[in-house]
Amino acid sequence: MDEDKQLHNVSRTTEQSECRTKSRFQLAKELEDKQRIQNTLSQYAQAEDRGASLLRQMLTFTPGPQEKEMITKQMKEEEGHAKIFTNQLKKFNFEETPLYATLQQFYEFCQECVNNKDWVACITCQAALEELAMASFGEFYNRVDDKETQEILLKVIEEERQHLAFCMDQLQKFVKNKETKEKIEQTQRMIVQVLAKGVMFTTLTSDQRNAAIKVLKQAHTMHTNKMKTLNIDFPQAI
Ligand SMILES: [Fe+2]
Ligand SMILES: [Fe+2]
Repeated sequence: MDEDKQLHNVSRTTEQSECRTKSRFQLAKELEDKQRIQNTLSQYAQAEDRGASLLRQMLTFTPGPQEKEMITKQMKEEEGHAKIFTNQLKKFNFEETPLYATLQQFYEFCQECVNNKDWVACITCQAALEELAMASFGEFYNRVDDKETQEILLKVIEEERQHLAFCMDQLQKFVKNKETKEKIEQTQRMIVQVLAKGVMFTTLTSDQRNAAIKVLKQAHTMHTNKMKTLNIDFPQAI
């Protein structure tokens, strides 16, 4: 074989091997992206469903007709969000993955507040949940490469913003009273504890843990600033 032919063969083999490596890398990345989207949409579908269920139960002890009307509206919207995210899962042909233990523990804590029919604690939980949801949807918006999903996220974020505004109105009334202000602060300490411990000590892959910490930090900053306007010191993350 002459020298030119030999060189040509070496170059072709290198190209083929680069191509194989690249496509394997691309495939792995695509699979990772797919799993991330599947997981995130699954968390949303289930979290929205849990949220709607909590609101449905809160309807049995609303303090007045105005709150009843608002909670009824929000419950329907959360049901709508659950449906939208479930439909997106179906659109991508994704199976639902289980709800993270961290979120499960948070919902269990919220459920305790609902079981106690403790309106102030419930609204405090709802405010934190809405904040967390908005931070997560915003983060997902930046990394999902699907126009329809992005449009859905914008619509959902707008509704969560209104839900949070309602919670802020409620909390504003409660901070004026020493006892209810203490209840808000106590509930917030519990929430931060449940979430911070949950994210560190429950089973998550390092990728999921890092993504969760990023969202939690963002929600924590946003909520700390909102609570400042109500003269409440939101607890530091532990
Ligand atoms: Fe929602
Ligand atoms: Fe909401």
